[in-house]
Amino acid sequence: MTSREGLIQQAKNVLEQNWLGYATKPAPRLYPHQWSWDSAFIAMAYAHYDSPRAIQEMRSLFEGQWQNGLLPHIIFNRAASDYSPGPEFWRVYRSPHAPQGVMTSGIIQPPVHATSILHIARQDPDEDRGLAFLREMFPKLKSWHAYLYNERDLEQNGLIAIRHPWESGQDNSPIWDQALSRIKIEAGMVPEYRRVDTDIVNVTERPTTAEYDRYAYLVKIFYENDYEEAQIFQSSPFVIQDVLFNTLLVQGNRDLSIIAQILGEESRLYEQWAMQTSNTMNEKLWDITHGIYFDYDLFSGQAIHAHVAAGFSPLYACVPTAARAELILANLNTYGFCPLDEVCWAVPSYDKLEPGYSPSRYWRGPVWININWVLYHGLVRYGFLAYAEHIKQAIIKLPSESGFYEYFDPDTGQGLGSESFSWTAALLLDLLLEEA
Ligand code: GLC
Repeated sequence: MTSREGLIQQAKNVLEQNWLGYATKPAPRLYPHQWSWDSAFIAMAYAHYDSPRAIQEMRSLFEGQWQNGLLPHIIFNRAASDYSPGPEFWRVYRSPHAPQGVMTSGIIQPPVHATSILHIARQDPDEDRGLAFLREMFPKLKSWHAYLYNERDLEQNGLIAIRHPWESGQDNSPIWDQALSRIKIEAGMVPEYRRVDTDIVNVTERPTTAEYDRYAYLVKIFYENDYEEAQIFQSSPFVIQDVLFNTLLVQGNRDLSIIAQILGEESRLYEQWAMQTSNTMNEKLWDITHGIYFDYDLFSGQAIHAHVAAGFSPLYACVPTAARAELILANLNTYGFCPLDEVCWAVPSYDKLEPGYSPSRYWRGPVWININWVLYHGLVRYGFLAYAEHIKQAIIKLPSESGFYEYFDPDTGQGLGSESFSWTAALLLDLLLEEA
């Protein structure tokens, strides 16, 4: 067992190894560009020991922001050419909003950025620099959140819709199965694409070809509609109100409101957004029978009954009432997730008792450190300290025993996917350095 100091050093080395000189790639070979929510998590770690780097990480990300506020999920690294699908696949030049001189994708990822940016400023030993950073980022964050409420709040009820599985950050989660199965692939429908992920990582630990065809087809809908949101939502069969995305947005709005207050700016709008999204999640996404929040499929007009760990994430933004939170805790503490009375590493991404659960296939079962980090904070916020402590110890134990992997087998703790994965290192660092 590595010492605490040794582990901290190893985690810092992972981030150093993945540092591109202006931002941090998620993993050495599998993900050679800058990813949006990865960077926000990574910067939270830098905030504890290298504020200038944390600032640079977020600054680089926002350089790819579109004029309509869209914050793209990938900012492509010109030096990395062996990644696919690459920048040309997205054809973002068809949008009048895409930036010049920066190559980006045309979809988004969960909005953890206001939270990360507030944390960076608060940790900065140089208070003036922290304030200047908030002042610099405030207009960009405002425009990012305004984009979400102007373009993605399709029912005007505060729930933001995603238009691609990748936008959720949980690419092949069982949540998307039904919506994707609606897409019947016919000849000529799927734009040409190449996969390199399966050259790097075991094919059984990645999404299937059937899933990839549908991911690619959805991107074609986006560029054929020149990335005009209203048009896309009219033509696409994939329109989903996602629990994790909206949870992180509730917290993001609260943090944006605090940033506004620190700067002496008007903050009420962000509080209102947080309240409205949270209230509608409680009205529309909560499922009393199962004690979990479910995603909602706007195309079919039905809740998506997938028992995923992200369904418990609203704890993180204090969305559930105390009574609902008790039900969530009881649910977490069952065999399908992570019962405390048995050897249980951490919360798996998908209920082990569901058909289709796989301990090794990406978002269909493996333990992910970021989801457990979100749940840990949620459990602390409701005072569920014993369970929270268990999760925290698991977040420390998994990388220290198995390495800094992308995800882990919930039964054996074995590392899966890419090694030297940045957010695994970063969120471990955040927990350990926060203690200090
Ligand atoms: C995968 C993950 C996504 C992450 C990206 C880069 O696509 O599903 O959440 O942002 O890899 O690490």
